Amino acid sequence: MRGTALGPATVESLVIRSQDIHERYGGVVPEIASREHLTTLVPVVTRALADAGASWETIDGIAVTHAPGLVGALMVGVSYAQGVGLARGLPVIGVHHMEGHLFATALEHADAVPPFTALLVSGGHTLLLDVPAWGHYRLLGQTRDDAAGEAFDKAAKLLGLPYPGGRHLEALARDGEPGRVRFTPPMLRRTQQPGDADYYAFSFSGLKTAVLLAVREATAAGTLDVMAPHIAHGFQHALITALVEKTARAADAHTRARIVLGGGVAGNRALRAALEARAAQFGGVVYAPSPRLATDNAAMIARAGLFRFGAGDEGTTLSAVATAPLPGLEAVPAPG
Ligand code: KG4
Ligand code: ZN
Repeated sequence: MRGTALGPATVESLVIRSQDIHERYGGVVPEIASREHLTTLVPVVTRALADAGASWETIDGIAVTHAPGLVGALMVGVSYAQGVGLARGLPVIGVHHMEGHLFATALEHADAVPPFTALLVSGGHTLLLDVPAWGHYRLLGQTRDDAAGEAFDKAAKLLGLPYPGGRHLEALARDGEPGRVRFTPPMLRRTQQPGDADYYAFSFSGLKTAVLLAVREATAAGTLDVMAPHIAHGFQHALITALVEKTARAADAHTRARIVLGGGVAGNRALRAALEARAAQFGGVVYAPSPRLATDNAAMIARAGLFRFGAGDEGTTLSAVATAPLPGLEAVPAPG
């Protein structure tokens, strides 16, 4: 990564190593995740340096995810970064995983910069933010239960798809007929008013139960093979409708013309298309990361780290933390 704290940055290399082993268990096994990190971390960093034609001597600082997530897995990265930092005399900057997702799109789109409305949708989080400036985040809404990606993964599992199932479900839904199976977009009503507790809130666990019932019904009728794409389409449509409408509400309320998507689910093409169509109604523009920057990657962490480095965060004692709010989260002004 080269660039300035707030200016454009270029990705010199990006190495992504996914842990396919979890597919066998249908979810992430924490112990296995930590061990895999231990064995793959050094080879991955070595390759990233080689791909960039860099060496530790040419590196100015190290950014590392320190929160939130599985502490055992985070600790491997944090310990390694601190070890190298100490040995090489380099600053080590701790980055919040979701702030990384927030910066990912800016790596590819020079205009994906504040002020904007942000929708971050990953396997662990669903955050609707107003971003007046980098480092200033107003949390408007989040999920009350499952995250959007988690809902995709659970619905995919019910449909017999491999883990993580988000992209498999999207592919299956492409063969589904719109409207053949309908689910109610969760926590979305036209009568909701700004200031209502659920105006920006999300909830996806009820939708998952609706999918379960639809799968059971189709199984009992012996039609699951035929119905699976329709169920997938209906699920994806309901979930996307809730995300899109609430994001549009947020952009409208804060008169933001730019909407930035982030997180693994941001790679979903149906979500992008629906949000682009909705934003076009009020002259809004949607910025979404390409698939390699939508799902977890080191470039987004480096970019957020570069910003934090510039903001003077270097040198704080780092520890791995399971849950932590986004740094720079501000209280949302009461609706007036
Ligand atoms: O951000 P991410 O890579 O990891 C977390 O921070 O959780 O997001 C992973 C999530 C998974 O739930 C995965 O199924 C979902 O993003 N995902 C998708 C798509 N690609 C990845 N969900 C829906 N459609 C996709 N195309
Ligand atoms: Zn993520």
